[in-house]
Amino acid sequence: MFIFVWLLQLSGRVNTEPTQDKQALLAFLSQTPHANRVQWNASDSACNWVGVECDGNRSFVYTLRLPGVGLVGSIPANTIGRLSNLRVLSLRSNGLSGEIPSDFSNLTLLRSLYLQGNQLSGEFPISVTRLTRLGRLDLSSNNFTGTIPFSINNLTHLTGLFLENNGFSGKLPTITDNLVSFNASNNNFNGSIPKSLTKFPASSFSGNLDLCGGPLPPCNPFFPAPAPSPSSVLTPPPVHKKSKKLSTAAIVAIVVGSALFAFLLLLCLLCLRKRQRRKSAKPPKPVSAARAVPAGGGVYSFDLEDLLRASAEVLGKGSVGTSYKAILEEGTTVVVKRLKDVAVTKKEFEIQLQVLGKIKHENVVPLRAFYYSRDEKLLVSDYMPAGSLSALLHGSRGSGRTPLDWDNRIRIALSAARGIGHLHVSGKVVHGNIKSSNILLRPDNDASVSDYGLNPLFGNTTPPNRVAGYRAPEVLETRKVTFKSDVYSFGVLLLELLTGKAPNQASLGEEGIDLPRWVQSVVREEWTAEVFDVELMRYHNIEEEMVQLLQIAMACVSVVPDQRPGMEEVVRMIEDMNRGETDDGLRQSSDDPSKGSDGHTPPPESRTSPRALTP
Ligand SMILES: *[C@@H]1O[C@H](CO)[C@@H](O)[C@H](O)[C@H]1NC(C)=O
Ligand SMILES: *[C@@H]1O[C@H](CO)[C@@H](O)[C@H](O)[C@H]1NC(C)=O
Ligand SMILES: *[C@@H]1O[C@H](CO)[C@@H](O)[C@H](O)[C@H]1NC(C)=O
Ligand SMILES: *[C@@H]1O[C@H](CO)[C@@H](O)[C@H](O)[C@H]1NC(C)=O
Ligand SMILES: *[C@@H]1O[C@H](CO)[C@@H](O)[C@H](O)[C@H]1NC(C)=O
Ligand SMILES: *[C@@H]1O[C@H](CO)[C@@H](O)[C@H](O)[C@H]1NC(C)=O
Ligand SMILES: *[C@@H]1O[C@H](CO)[C@@H](O)[C@H](O)[C@H]1NC(C)=O
Repeated sequence: MFIFVWLLQLSGRVNTEPTQDKQALLAFLSQTPHANRVQWNASDSACNWVGVECDGNRSFVYTLRLPGVGLVGSIPANTIGRLSNLRVLSLRSNGLSGEIPSDFSNLTLLRSLYLQGNQLSGEFPISVTRLTRLGRLDLSSNNFTGTIPFSINNLTHLTGLFLENNGFSGKLPTITDNLVSFNASNNNFNGSIPKSLTKFPASSFSGNLDLCGGPLPPCNPFFPAPAPSPSSVLTPPPVHKKSKKLSTAAIVAIVVGSALFAFLLLLCLLCLRKRQRRKSAKPPKPVSAARAVPAGGGVYSFDLEDLLRASAEVLGKGSVGTSYKAILEEGTTVVVKRLKDVAVTKKEFEIQLQVLGKIKHENVVPLRAFYYSRDEKLLVSDYMPAGSLSALLHGSRGSGRTPLDWDNRIRIALSAARGIGHLHVSGKVVHGNIKSSNILLRPDNDASVSDYGLNPLFGNTTPPNRVAGYRAPEVLETRKVTFKSDVYSFGVLLLELLTGKAPNQASLGEEGIDLPRWVQSVVREEWTAEVFDVELMRYHNIEEEMVQLLQIAMACVSVVPDQRPGMEEVVRMIEDMNRGETDDGLRQSSDDPSKGSDGHTPPPESRTSPRALTP
């Protein structure tokens, strides 16, 4: 119903024709022999053709799916490569042969490429490694040969890679950690399976010439994976390999160690100099040392006075205290947070912060140091100059600012979910204060979560309004934050990303109605399109993704905690969402020959039932 409402709205607009794309499609079909089933009527709009879908206002071809229609011969150059807005291309299960034309590199928006079940040959197509948005690539069951280029790592969004049943050879390269599905079986690969791929089962690697390690039997120590070079013949290869590994570790340790040491040295020098200066000027004060959370073994100390004197700028007054941006004398910028209402002893404080200090994840802002005295409790963490999601979403709206685009919203949602998921699973820490001002942006536009795990410091004094707007309903009674209440807060955060509305502000029309209930009421009234942020209306073909994210958000904000998914599951659902685009099910009519799955349907969990929307 939901999607229907959208399509109705969109189809009512214009009835234009993607003229250039139409020419490219006609050129493709006229140059490629095929069975008679594909009959494109040149006087009709290309958007009505079998296997073709256009964007909402019919200005370009969005997907082309011609599976199993008897296409033979090579893919002609200067045909499909001209469909520059194509998102999904499926030519699977045909008789296509020859190489993939180099102009495929112009399909820069392509997210899914299904070419399995043909007789395509040649080396791994380099043009494909330019398609940086690609999420799924299926080259299986063809006649490809040669090695897999390392530049496959340019495909940073790749989640599914299918290479099985070809003649690929050589070593498997290390491939990005994002892969969820991978199959390389029945090729001529040899050597050891790289670490990043060892998470896949043996059946992903079976039927190869000489693969070893990972899920397969270990590599023969006397003929190790990398072909022995002349020099390593002298040294026994396993030792050679080990010492090489060790030296990498050693180098890392040395680099980290010396960086840490230099930092400690600077801090010590700084605090010594200050202390001396003060000694000459004023009567000596008791030296209060801020103890660092030992991350790599060293405990460094710096003077509280230095820290407070360095403070130049108030960043914000939060619910747990005030944050300052402090530039230390050697130029390092840190954030110092002065906690108020801390209700635990020094010992308890230290124990909790040692736990938090050990958490290391790219989507979690690292805690660098803490300080506890009777009147002052401080936390020191990294400064994130790009600011918070809250500022990005709600700052100076409408006044010519650049709106946060959809891809970046998804990216923020996913990276924040990963950070929280890491807190939950690896750190066993409840975040307890998820809100958009605690989601900080990194220079690469990923998000990191901050202000986590502090609730235990406030005992039962936690004011009930601490996380108003994001707070799960049960927390009001129990006054206890849990993993599931984090999931609720994260759901509110997703709603905030989708609606552009701040949950903790009375901007929802009615007094006292929270964001989840507002969204539910709007959806119930079938004003679905009204839910979404007006700033998102300028982007096309994101309706499906917005609806999917809305469904995930609604699952997270279930009133009953047990009905909310776990954080890891939320991460997976958001990851699968991008892949959801490869799902043929949604917008196909039943007489479409391209109907059906492209062979790799996402797991059933990734499809949240639309019923989840009706409360
Ligand atoms: C092609 O489309 C035109 C316009 O829609 C229509 O009049 C004509 O009958 C169609 N031809 C065939 C062979 O279907
Ligand atoms: C489709 O919509 C977009 C934005 O609304 C606009 O820029 C574009 O010109 C439209 N295309 C056509 C052919 O109307
Ligand atoms: C890609 O498109 C550009 C401009 O549309 C064109 O100049 C270029 O030749 C195309 N590249 C290939 C490999 O066809
Ligand atoms: C892959 O990315 C690197 C750096 O971003 C670039 O130098 C290289 O040309 C890319 N390779 C291909 C095949 O696109
Ligand atoms: C593809 O490989 C198969 C089996 O190796 C072979 O029989 C066939 O001739 C090859 N096709 C082409 C077009 O090279
Ligand atoms: C792996 O295969 C490549 C190419 O087929 C070959 O050059 C290399 O010697 C092989 N390595 C081993 C250890 O068999
Ligand atoms: C990989 O492909 C082979 C051959 O098609 C198949 O037997 C195997 O089950 C696949 N493995 C996975 C994990 O999908």
